[in-house]
Amino acid sequence: MTTLHLPLDRSSGIPIHRQIYEGFRRAILDGLLRPGQRVPSTRALAEELDVSRLPVLTAYEQLLHEGYLEGRIGSGTFVSAAVPDDLLRPPVPPDAAAPLSRVRRTSHPPPPVRDEGGLGPFRMSLPALDQFPHAAWARLVARHAHALTHAEMAYGDPAGLVPLRLAIAEHLRTTRAVRCEAEQVLIVSGSQAALRLAATVLLGRGDRVAVEEPGSPLARAALGAGGAEVVPVPVDEEGMSVASLRRRDGRVRAAYVTPSHQYPLGTSMTAARRFALLDWADRRGAWLLEDDYDSEYRYVSRPLGALQGMDAHDRVIYIGTFSKVVFPAVRVGYLVVPPSLWQRFVDAREAFDLFSPTLYQLSLAEFLREGHFARHLRRMRGVYMARRDALLTGLARHCRDQLAVHNADAGLHVAVLLSDGLDDGDVVRRMAGRGLTATALSTCYAGAARRSGLLLGFGGSTERRLLEATRVLAEVLGD
Ligand SMILES: Cc1ncc(COP(=O)(O)O)c(C=O)c1O
Repeated sequence: MTTLHLPLDRSSGIPIHRQIYEGFRRAILDGLLRPGQRVPSTRALAEELDVSRLPVLTAYEQLLHEGYLEGRIGSGTFVSAAVPDDLLRPPVPPDAAAPLSRVRRTSHPPPPVRDEGGLGPFRMSLPALDQFPHAAWARLVARHAHALTHAEMAYGDPAGLVPLRLAIAEHLRTTRAVRCEAEQVLIVSGSQAALRLAATVLLGRGDRVAVEEPGSPLARAALGAGGAEVVPVPVDEEGMSVASLRRRDGRVRAAYVTPSHQYPLGTSMTAARRFALLDWADRRGAWLLEDDYDSEYRYVSRPLGALQGMDAHDRVIYIGTFSKVVFPAVRVGYLVVPPSLWQRFVDAREAFDLFSPTLYQLSLAEFLREGHFARHLRRMRGVYMARRDALLTGLARHCRDQLAVHNADAGLHVAVLLSDGLDDGDVVRRMAGRGLTATALSTCYAGAARRSGLLLGFGGSTERRLLEATRVLAEVLGD
């Protein structure tokens, strides 16, 4: 525990040890200090309050004696785990607040602590965490943590660390046919942050941004957060319908697309559609936001190059992430920004959150430079292919009559369609009751859902678990 808010009133005539005792007692009863929480040592508290140790010792002795605190030999003093519940009062209104109170109280119940760790089979957007080269990664992070220079501990470049930007540019040119130099690569905290940043730079209040329908709800949220109007444009088997886009493109300043692997349906945008989209953007002076969120994994043919690489007019802002190829909690993503927009993006990024954590940038740069990244990617293609095949085998074996696989060519999830009349939200709820973490296709529609289906992530589960999960899914669908 660091600083404790415990104001003392030296002019009150109340002895200091009494004020300390009262302050602790009330903080414990009001729930500001919680059972099991460590409290400062008597020496540290005396120093912090600028009093001698004696009144602190006296107060602690009484709190220990009365059972508010408990000492654990060798490990310090803690709020007693056994403070009787009936002593613990609900929060009091602010005007009656005790000296230790430092939170604003409202009549709202506290929000539940969200556990996003539902790692059940079919969880979307989850890579194979069990296959990640932890030892190599830990070595790199530790090495950099030990060797951090003062410059690396200070404020960093808002555009990101140069060695990481160089490594990303090389990777993108080589594997994704992105036309870029490191000078165009802007490091941010994941692709969600990239979208939010792009919205800030490109969209004003009242501007419109076209998004794929169905599409990513998170992308819609990021793009609309600054007051832009999000306009859903249907996706057909070739990708976003440019004809529909043209019909509603008044005030459309940008279009968000996932050309390599449409989120969520899984199709990849045809070359003809890509050229039509680029032509639309060029004629309108609009921007294309290409979210290349999991293009590294493709199972049926060679990965397609990025839309950005086909763009002769610098209308594409390319967005990528390490969430699927390293792990989501690393929170590093990047944009490739056309030179004409570069300064506006960097300025907005700096205004937004300055820069990304240097330690992870250093570690990632070396992860790429030393070849761990390329090795991991190569190995994971095989792992994911096997997982995808296990899922498809299980679906064919157990669920053939209840659903149809829509697309399983790429990425870390399979989109399946349910027969009409089945409410996918209800199916997902019932699946959750059996430990399965699927996503309903209907959640991806901004308007009325045109199809009922399930998005089944396979990246994060072993083949055995996936096979078993399809058996359980068949039971849920059969109920
Ligand atoms: C369409 C899409 N883009 C990108 C991401 C990755 O986001 P981030 O890079 O912020 O982790 C996800 C993950 O859920 C996604 O569904």
